Amino acid sequence: MSDEHHPARPNGRSVYLETFGCQMNVLDSELVRGQLAALGYGFTDDPTSAAVVLYNTCSVREQAENKVLSRIGRIGVWKKRGHKVILGVLGCLAEREGSAMLRKYPQIDLMCGPGELDNLPMLIDNAMKTEAVEVADRVALQGNKTRRWATLAAAEDNLELLDLSRSFDPDRASAGGRSAYVRITRGCNKFCTYCVVPYTRGAEVHRPPDHIVNECKRLADLGVIEITLLGQTVNHYAYTHGPAVTVNGAEAAQVGPGLSAFASRGAKPQAARRVTTFADLLKRIHDEVTAVKRLRFVTSYPRDFGDDILAVMAECRRICRYLHVPAQSGSNRILKLMNRGYSREHYVEFIDRARAALPDVSIAGDIIVGFPTETDADFEMTKDLLRRVRFKNNFIFKYSPRPGTAANARLGDDVPPLVKRRRNRDLLALGALISAEVHAEYVGRVVDVFVQKVSEKTTKRSAPGGGRVQLGWETPPIQMSGRTGGDLITVFDVPASHSCDDLVGRIVPVRITGSGPLILIGEPVVDQAQGAAYPAAMVDS
Ligand code: SAH
Ligand code: SF4
Ligand code: F3S
Repeated sequence: MSDEHHPARPNGRSVYLETFGCQMNVLDSELVRGQLAALGYGFTDDPTSAAVVLYNTCSVREQAENKVLSRIGRIGVWKKRGHKVILGVLGCLAEREGSAMLRKYPQIDLMCGPGELDNLPMLIDNAMKTEAVEVADRVALQGNKTRRWATLAAAEDNLELLDLSRSFDPDRASAGGRSAYVRITRGCNKFCTYCVVPYTRGAEVHRPPDHIVNECKRLADLGVIEITLLGQTVNHYAYTHGPAVTVNGAEAAQVGPGLSAFASRGAKPQAARRVTTFADLLKRIHDEVTAVKRLRFVTSYPRDFGDDILAVMAECRRICRYLHVPAQSGSNRILKLMNRGYSREHYVEFIDRARAALPDVSIAGDIIVGFPTETDADFEMTKDLLRRVRFKNNFIFKYSPRPGTAANARLGDDVPPLVKRRRNRDLLALGALISAEVHAEYVGRVVDVFVQKVSEKTTKRSAPGGGRVQLGWETPPIQMSGRTGGDLITVFDVPASHSCDDLVGRIVPVRITGSGPLILIGEPVVDQAQGAAYPAAMVDS
């Protein structure tokens, strides 16, 4: 996008939508896209030619916010030069900042928190009609802030309707339209002291199991073979049948319990009420939606991950042996200050239990370095945890103080930036060593790889032949990239007999021949009897 380019008359109903942040936002953007497409809006990849520019934002760290603020600044420059465009800020930053941001950035026409996305078309429509210039005419819809403290009338939760009206577009979805996200819970009730999510996404709301299963079935009918269930703490999913119904008597979304409501072995069923637990939900999707070959879920919470869930995972081969289960720190003192509700010993006990039930499970996580008061000794405990658990990988974040959170109010931000940077670097180096060992163990094995795309290496080289394979002396083979069930990135060269278009969105057996800290390298298993073709039984099974 160029600062110089600012056409005076952008295309009437074209929308540019850019997404920042987590998978929740990716799914929200998909819902927004479907909702606006149904109303006759078109989409463009070029913000300069759009009538409406929407940023779906993240607020989890300051850096995430800065990214979008620079985009907003750029649109401000365009508008000053006379460029006509409606600028909408959606998502977690809109929820956190709301009208304060409208006052600061006159170029923003509307803001819409994640809990109000069902109202977005109305907001855009109003902005188009009024071409508002006064701050007073512009709108910031922040639902979760108010909703959190009021009783959430789940039956009135229009967001559920937005999820239900989802129109999945395979052309836009990843892995050739064969991979999709499905939300099981919204929001979070855990209140980790550093985190904005409970404030931006509001109270934890659990979707009715029938809605979730039906959504999975609809996606499978559209060709989806990989489904990732989404929630901030998926293992705490528990739907109590009975109390939450709509006016028509159908089941409605329902507010979930906080951390204190959990016993040590999973969600406590309410007396005499039937409860669908996360284990039940996984089993139902696995058994009722057999066209889905890979069922995965993020994010797991290290506390109260019951043996019932592990047993379902062990029993059902189509549920991926993969857990993203952030530890955040290896120091009990820091975990306590974070209000995580578990100790390092609990965490390790869970990992051992998971590995005993699922010997081939791969474990990933998140770590925060430089949390307030973190000493070198605390940090050593985190390094020690990495060695003990042998994670496939960890996302490592430098602590970022977030306005409105308890840690920010009570603990400040006393670890100097240089120390945070050093700990970040040290942990990345240690993590890379461990990941390299974990990946090296796969060399010589055959793994099933869900092929997602042409690899970045090939894309950078600007693939000849428009994505079709053209083998010859001058043309290096195209490299594809995909993931194992355990989420290990795997690359391989397309064999002469195949085109990459045939492979995207399929599951193919790959023999691993090499590895690095972040990837496996392999070659597809070719059926000798049939020449170059993959054995039919092993593809997509
Ligand atoms: N619900 C998930 C995490 C959601 S946020 C869980 O509880 O595990 C994703 C990650 O961002 C967190 O796991 C944490 O590592 C990181 N994060 C959240 N707030 C942060 C902050 N203020 N500073 C740095 N990292 C943060
Ligand atoms: Fe944030 Fe904690 Fe909730 Fe995760 S569990 S979203 S870190 S408050
Ligand atoms: Fe960011 Fe909101 Fe997700 S703060 S991480 S987009 S829930």
